Amino acid sequence: MIDLSPDEFRRLGYRAIDLLAEQMARIGDLPTRQPVPAEHRERLLRQPLPETPSDPDALLERFRQDILPYPMGNASPRFFAWVNSPPAPLAVIADLLAAGFDPSVAGGDHAAVYVEHAVLNWLKTIMGYPTEAGGVLVSGGSVANLVALAVMRHVRTAGSIRARGFQDQARPMVVYTSTQGHSCLQKAVELLGIGHDHLRKIPVDADYCMEVDALRQQITADRALGLEPVCVAASAGTVNTGAVDPLAELADLCEAEKLWFHVDGAYGGFGILSEQAGALYAGIERADSIAIDPHKWLYVPVECGCTLVRDAQAMRDSFSVMPPYLRDDAALPWFSEYTIQQTRGFKALKLWMVMQQIGITGYQELISRDIALARTLQQKIQARPEFELVAAGPLSITCFRLAPAGMSEADRNALNKAAVGIVQRSGEAFLTSTELDGKVVLRVCIVNFRTTEADLDRLLDAIQQAGEQGRSSRQD
Ligand SMILES: Cc1ncc(COP(=O)(O)O)c(C=O)c1O
Repeated sequence: MIDLSPDEFRRLGYRAIDLLAEQMARIGDLPTRQPVPAEHRERLLRQPLPETPSDPDALLERFRQDILPYPMGNASPRFFAWVNSPPAPLAVIADLLAAGFDPSVAGGDHAAVYVEHAVLNWLKTIMGYPTEAGGVLVSGGSVANLVALAVMRHVRTAGSIRARGFQDQARPMVVYTSTQGHSCLQKAVELLGIGHDHLRKIPVDADYCMEVDALRQQITADRALGLEPVCVAASAGTVNTGAVDPLAELADLCEAEKLWFHVDGAYGGFGILSEQAGALYAGIERADSIAIDPHKWLYVPVECGCTLVRDAQAMRDSFSVMPPYLRDDAALPWFSEYTIQQTRGFKALKLWMVMQQIGITGYQELISRDIALARTLQQKIQARPEFELVAAGPLSITCFRLAPAGMSEADRNALNKAAVGIVQRSGEAFLTSTELDGKVVLRVCIVNFRTTEADLDRLLDAIQQAGEQGRSSRQD
């Protein structure tokens, strides 16, 4: 019952590919996302335990009817929320092949292991690291940051953390990020036992980049309090505005202060390939660790993050446990010695395929194009009097708002929140808001090879209309 004949497998597989291809063909015309009707949501939520077998064709049909029409929306050219790219179609096929091949890439002498090493070497080269550096593919940016900071913690305790935990640390560790650092850094310091009281959020300048002088003063103040500054977690592309912290200056400071220099490049790391912003990354190659996220700007389907650590041995020492039952198949150190996971999926295959399909020159063009579209959007915003441009970072994020003259800040905040909801529900486009300096702003992130200038006009039209609707419903 569980196995399919090769012919059945082929027939169902073709049908599944047909479903996706039909969706792709219509992607620009479909709603970006549509709200799941309440009764349908209930049906999806409350499904009985399947006691008896179901027919695979019927299940594919249920996928077509019940699931496919309600996507998150990221495949659409008018999806601008968070940092979610559409999947490169070849990478979707690669994920299917990876599942069919189904190795555990924990380690051992089989092809998938070597493919992951090859891909990691490509990623190290992009970020300016030597190929001897350590690396591992993980589920996404959050885990990539966590793994990197776990190595930092191991190194900063001279390894004693593995035996004794934090039980005999005389001085609490302190980690520094900016007020714009991603929330996953907070989760990481919490999980690692450092605690968020010891995560300092350093003020930013007018471009939302970490203030190096403020950081220096905070380090001095913390030392005076008897604390132990251990790590600066800089951002190469903050999630709110795409700000790239002054990496070279921070590298100098970390060297002088003997701090671990970590860079969170989950959103922006691959901006290093862009024409417009590549120069901002000078100094990233000096980082002790880097988190990057191929499932964002390399356009592979989720999940695929990556931790790189300059000192491969330190990375291995942080995690390696090789019990006897794992020792018979060790052509190279196992990936499971460099991270928390033992059994690991073949995430490398989609990267291996798409990085070759597109090539570095292709990525340079695609990423530069996303940034150029953000610039175009910013010009369009400035040309429409109902909008105020609030932040135009160096990458592909734009923050702006509806700012009618004579309206209080509280009402403007409410209006922009309302406009986001109206646009989201319309299906015309999908964007989200964030907060900058206490203002609710609309945030548009372009990591999308399908977006065109016409999509930007449609987005702005939709927001403008939503603003008018929001204002008139407030007046009613
Ligand atoms: C700067 C930054 N860091 C970390 C993350 C977390 O990555 P993930 O959502 O893949 O866990 C994100 C996600 O958007 C991000 O933008």
